[in-house]
Amino acid sequence: MDYRAILAPPATFAQQLRTFFEAGGVGANITLPHKVRVMQLVDKVSDRAQLAGAANTLSMHAGKLVADNTDGAGLVADLSRQLGALAGLRVLILGAGGAVRGIVGPLLDAGCKELVLRNRTAHKAQAIIDLFRPSATRRVRMYQSEDNDQRFDIVINAVSSGHQGPSGSAHYEAAWLKDAALAYDLSYGAAAQPFLQHIEQLKPGLASSDGLGMLAAQGAASFAIWTGHEVEFTQALRVLRESV
Ligand code: ATR
Repeated sequence: MDYRAILAPPATFAQQLRTFFEAGGVGANITLPHKVRVMQLVDKVSDRAQLAGAANTLSMHAGKLVADNTDGAGLVADLSRQLGALAGLRVLILGAGGAVRGIVGPLLDAGCKELVLRNRTAHKAQAIIDLFRPSATRRVRMYQSEDNDQRFDIVINAVSSGHQGPSGSAHYEAAWLKDAALAYDLSYGAAAQPFLQHIEQLKPGLASSDGLGMLAAQGAASFAIWTGHEVEFTQALRVLRESV
């Protein structure tokens, strides 16, 4: 299999995509800044990509180009690797951007008991919560001040401030961590460090993780779509870990 990076500026992205699949391409991962726009360029969109509002995986099926999203499945796989089954767990999600749209459905499907969203701009969190009405009304809700006394098993940081360096640091409360088994940042590398260092100060010794395992696992899930083969992603994670 030949899997390689193709640099695609916005102006030529659509044409490059056509050329790739016309030349017999089997599948493609799509990354920033094309994850949202690519949805307009395909024949079919999976339910989870529709819900996420973005796609990271394209595949050709019977002449039709299909967009899917494996980011949420990647997160679930990595959390399960670290914690075991997610059924019954309560999760606090910090942030309400594009990344959060993609993870709520898969976390619910994995059996998490309750997802609580907290965001600087409340209406953006509410818009995501509304996507899950009425099927999961009681399981996905907005953070309230009383939640400071609540127990969260996992705290997920989806706030992008880590990408802005130390100057963009967001606010985190020690109370959110008191019963947590894991604090997890969806970013990896330097962008995850402000959150992970903050957590270590608030609750020394708490298990924490960046999102490199999610990256490896979303790739494994894409690979399964293209080839029909489920692959174990921990070896890929070890290789990635050595390269960041
Ligand atoms: P992504 O695709 O990574 O989710 P995004 O869609 O730009 O990125 O979302 C960024 C998230 O980080 C948002 O929830 C944003 O909060 P707002 O909705 O209030 O803008 C949050 N964020 C970014 N910088 C932040 C900061 N300094 N403090 C708190 N939240 C911040």
